[in-house]
Amino acid sequence: MSAPRLLFSVSGMMERAPFLFLLLLISSSVFPRRCISDTVTPREALLLRNEVREMFYHAFNGYMKYAFPKDELRPSSCEGEDTLGSYALTLIDSLDTLVLLGDREQFTCSVEWIGKNLQFNINKTVSVFETTIRVLGGLLSAHLIASDYATGMRIPTYEDQLLHLAEDLARRLLPAFDTPTGIPFGSVNLLYGVDEHESKITSTAGGGTLTLEFGILSRLTNDPVFEEVTKNAVRGLWARRSKLDLVGAHINVFTGEWTQKDAGIGTSIDSFYEYLLKAYLLFGDEEYLYIFQEAYGAAMHYLHNDPWYVEVNMDSGAIVWPLFNSLQAFWPGLQVLAGDIDPAIRTHAAFFSVWKRYGFTPEGFNLATLSVQNGQRSYPLRPELIESTYWLYKATRDPRYLDAGRDMITSLQYGARCPCGYCHISDVEHHKQEDHMESFFLAETVKYLWLLFDLAAGPDNIVENGPYKYTFSTEGHLFPATPQVSLAKEHCSYLGAFCWSGDMRIESPSMEAGTEMGKTNVTKFYGRDGRSSLASSTYSADHVSGLIKGSCPGLTHGQKFGISYIASTSPDIIYDHSNDHNEYSDGRIHSVIYNQGPDNTWIETEMKGNDIPVSDADKPQVHLDER
Ligand SMILES: *[C@@H]1O[C@H](CO)[C@@H](O)[C@H](O)[C@H]1NC(C)=O
Ligand SMILES: *[C@@H]1O[C@H](CO)[C@@H](O)[C@H](O)[C@H]1NC(C)=O
Repeated sequence: MSAPRLLFSVSGMMERAPFLFLLLLISSSVFPRRCISDTVTPREALLLRNEVREMFYHAFNGYMKYAFPKDELRPSSCEGEDTLGSYALTLIDSLDTLVLLGDREQFTCSVEWIGKNLQFNINKTVSVFETTIRVLGGLLSAHLIASDYATGMRIPTYEDQLLHLAEDLARRLLPAFDTPTGIPFGSVNLLYGVDEHESKITSTAGGGTLTLEFGILSRLTNDPVFEEVTKNAVRGLWARRSKLDLVGAHINVFTGEWTQKDAGIGTSIDSFYEYLLKAYLLFGDEEYLYIFQEAYGAAMHYLHNDPWYVEVNMDSGAIVWPLFNSLQAFWPGLQVLAGDIDPAIRTHAAFFSVWKRYGFTPEGFNLATLSVQNGQRSYPLRPELIESTYWLYKATRDPRYLDAGRDMITSLQYGARCPCGYCHISDVEHHKQEDHMESFFLAETVKYLWLLFDLAAGPDNIVENGPYKYTFSTEGHLFPATPQVSLAKEHCSYLGAFCWSGDMRIESPSMEAGTEMGKTNVTKFYGRDGRSSLASSTYSADHVSGLIKGSCPGLTHGQKFGISYIASTSPDIIYDHSNDHNEYSDGRIHSVIYNQGPDNTWIETEMKGNDIPVSDADKPQVHLDER
């Protein structure tokens, strides 16, 4: 449907025509080799979840035995290698996966080892981006779990060692932000600051994917500097957007000139978009939301070539690369968070058809020739497609996503498993293995697979069952929306409230981007515990085609976000429990589901009592101990 626009927006119309014709032909059905598989049953989901757990331990134990305390494992030769900074990278990156798996023993001794042994006063020049998302993020999420009773994983002897390490590390990264544009250098020496010969060119993702980790650190340390520099970096990038509201891939941090003007949602840019929305979700800072809405709207207008995404020149909008690249695969997951589900479903189906064709997604797949792009033939165990599969399953409960997850497990088990862990695939056509295992395999790839099948089987984990709503970092780290993190600038009491339908107003962060609410049923949900609206097994039979945040007028960020509090402007809407002995005598909250009817009216359904198991805010429940 967007093809005509492309047709007229490119100059060489005749040259482009064959490509566009092909593009129009491509759909999820272009690869007809779809296997008919039986739908994954809850029992099978449990078995698959346990298989994923075994996959984790195969690789994690291999790392601990043969590589620790080096950064990463060489899974074929069973050795270690230092890839980032020689500071036990894979262990730090795996901490919150251990928590999800309920492994208190390994989590505790890992946190203790890190607290005692890790040091950042080392003469190493490291990537600001990778160090932030893998190490800083890993330390912060583990700190937030280890220091909090409500997670069920509190470590009694823990005394904020990881927070102190995180702060020390972040201070060593700060010199990178000292540039005229505010956009940081790509690399910094942890001991000596920015090297005088350091490149002044950095990627958009590198400068724009730091806000969550640094923002959390500011809120935990009460030092605003971390939040300020990273927000400034985002502003520096966004101020240099093109008149089409697109950003390029690489920029000079001194002059602010784009040195690579290809706009896209994949390589070099991807998580810039992701952190705009997630920084809003976690911190409630509407500046990020406004930027996201404009950036997302432009991406859907110029880059979306339903169901694929292309790269275009940021100034002219002309297509540069008709290429699927594997990093784009996070996008449908982001769209679920934005409430834009329909295009996410189509794009996921298209991307998954590439996976089915090769058993893995190559780094690049040429949409014009429908073949693997030369030079981009590898699959380095990336999580992005699995991540989107998880989010789409969470939003729709469509069993096709479990089937997809099962296919992905099969590919990894038969194609990538090697003696001490999982190997990169150097060529998806020949499934040739390579002796490397990135730390994100345990931080993300395995984590999202496990979450997918745990959700189908139970679920039994802190992400679905509370005590907080979690935002995932771009490295898959769990950032809880605790009051200290999410409500730093808001003051409200912890009492619990909900909106009457009359006070309800529809709010979709992606409204401009074409959420088609009229066509499909949209389900909304309120609960005071901050659980995902779709986590309850009550909904497992529902097919929800939209996930739109609603808000009562006058509600604060925390209330809108699902951690509900008394509405400051209308305290009289507190539900009177005294009339509802039967439904509410156990103190459990009721929540309201809104379904949009065919005539655009909203139909209210109350979920009562035991339908929604909620944790009591006054008595944080320990979930992981119950396994
Ligand atoms: C720091 O590391 C660099 C690169 O390894 C080396 O050339 C330099 O001599 C080191 N500096 C000091 C003071 O050790
Ligand atoms: C929307 O929900 C209503 C009420 O639950 C149902 O009757 C109707 O069939 C649904 N429509 C669609 C398109 O799913």
